[in-house]
Amino acid sequence: GGLVAAGLGGFWVIDMIVNDDFDSFTDKFRTRLPESERKKRPKIVILGTGWGSLCFLRKLHTDLFDVTIISPRNYFLFTPLLVGGTTGTVEVRSIMEPIRKYCKRADADDATFYEAECLSVDPVSKKVKCFDNSAVKGEVSEFELEYDHLIVGVGADNQTFGIPGVKENACFLKEINDTRNIRDKILDCLETASYPGQPEKEIDRLLNFVVVGGGPSGVEFTAELNDFLQSDLLKTYPLAKRINVTLVEALPHILTIFDKKIIDHVEKRLQSSNNTKIWTKTAVVGVREKEITVKNTSTKEESVHPYGLLVWATGNTPRKITTQIMQSIGSDVQNNRRGLVVDDYFRVAGADGIWSIGDASINPLKPLAQTAQVASQQGRYLGRLFNQLADEMNNDLIKKRENPEAHKEQQKEKQQQEKANLFNSITGSNKSFEEAVKEKPLFRYKHMGTLAYVGDHQAVAEFKGDHSTTVSEGYITYYLWRSVYFTKLLSFRNRALVSFDWLKSSIFGRDISRG
Ligand code: FAD
Ligand code: NAI
Repeated sequence: GGLVAAGLGGFWVIDMIVNDDFDSFTDKFRTRLPESERKKRPKIVILGTGWGSLCFLRKLHTDLFDVTIISPRNYFLFTPLLVGGTTGTVEVRSIMEPIRKYCKRADADDATFYEAECLSVDPVSKKVKCFDNSAVKGEVSEFELEYDHLIVGVGADNQTFGIPGVKENACFLKEINDTRNIRDKILDCLETASYPGQPEKEIDRLLNFVVVGGGPSGVEFTAELNDFLQSDLLKTYPLAKRINVTLVEALPHILTIFDKKIIDHVEKRLQSSNNTKIWTKTAVVGVREKEITVKNTSTKEESVHPYGLLVWATGNTPRKITTQIMQSIGSDVQNNRRGLVVDDYFRVAGADGIWSIGDASINPLKPLAQTAQVASQQGRYLGRLFNQLADEMNNDLIKKRENPEAHKEQQKEKQQQEKANLFNSITGSNKSFEEAVKEKPLFRYKHMGTLAYVGDHQAVAEFKGDHSTTVSEGYITYYLWRSVYFTKLLSFRNRALVSFDWLKSSIFGRDISRG
């Protein structure tokens, strides 16, 4: 019994070290603000429940702030395992975490969550306008909230380059519904192809699966699809052997963020399966209900190809709300095509009290990849920064209370600045928030390496040092890939569910029922 307890305790401590999550433990022992001070806490509105926002929230001492979270989805999604959901390697519920679980903190310090989409931000009056975009609507389906500090962590949208027909006909790979949609469509294509009297040409079309974009999303999906085909579909559908998977990439190679050795390995691996082809130097330029037009980027020749399933993974573009914020600030400062321009502290250029992290933002002087690794580190950094600033403010208040003269002054100061930005009024030594923030350590991104699943129990990894790059591929890397993402899953519940899914799909195969 003692050994088991020690083992679990050790695992728990290691887990906290790996995930930099001591705060969830130490938070319980923090001295809370007295009720009179609580009412004056800065209002923080967080947009989004993704990597950046949740990591910010988890670090934040919610007793020091009045926190509201707004997002159209009431859960956090563990995107690195999302592709597995398209084939049933993992069940989607295993990689979702209810956000309300993280709103519940120590007594009376709960954050408030509203499931809504933020439609617009007014950076001058410091208000956000939100809308209920879900099916069930009440008498109130729009509301406005004031903020002192707005954290924009809305991620990014699917890039379509304005190519006609993509939005209407392609499946994307970003949200939970996308994975359900893809899984359903793969099986629907097979069931429909199996109809008696289905013409040969139509069977070929239905079983022609096209993946557009040879970035990590497109490659991981092609690999998962191939696993599904080899391990499950070929055993159950007589027609599955006629499935053709084509990965289409506009550049001369796939996975261009990786080292050349990895690119060669993955290109060979994917094409070693009879069912999978890679078309490089080929851009999709048009999409219709049952066919795509592709253009060879060298010869400029165009050709038309029928498809049954089309999966679109050609990167990111700013969301509507991000563009709205950029426009309301002005194109003289907000002029980057990737998202909100921020400085070293994630302050949005040209706006007071707006901060942005993750895929929604870019520091043009130090651009980083749009990954969960980056967004989570940024969220944690910003949470810590806010805690430091708030702690300074509170220490200052305590000092003033101990010294009545200073306290009197503080009262005067408070009246004067009642309506001013709270941070400016409470940093005490009359330093503005802008100045206070400048004294804090800068964000430093620690790249832990890039990993990607490439099918048939193999993964690739790249670790860049200052002077050298280490690459690895194969089965051992696959177990490293699984272990890394397993430890990064946020809760024991998710880890248990994902382990069970992995075990279940390896013993019984993936479920091939639709719905
Ligand atoms: P997100 O995590 O996308 O969260 C955005 C949040 O904002 C969501 O909750 C969304 O609902 C909400 N939102 C959207 N619009 C609004 C609005 N108008 N108002 C309020 N809220 C809004 N990265 C890695 O490092 N490793 C990987 O292995 C990896 N695998 C990936 C696999 C796939 C299939 C995909 C799509 C991405 C993967 N990434 C990976 C990238 C990673 O998921 C993103 O970089 C990361 O999610 C960005 O975090 P974020 O917080 O900026 O945005
Ligand atoms: P991406 O931007 O990395 O790749 C998109 C690819 O699509 C590019 O290679 C581009 O040349 C190609 N493309 C664009 N338009 C095309 C067209 N019309 N026809 C054919 N090809 C076209 O985008 P992806 O893969 O969607 O990833 C988005 C973000 O998520 C990236 O930042 C990525 O690093 C991250 N991610 C990381 C993963 C990991 O670390 N394992 C896994 C999945 C995503």
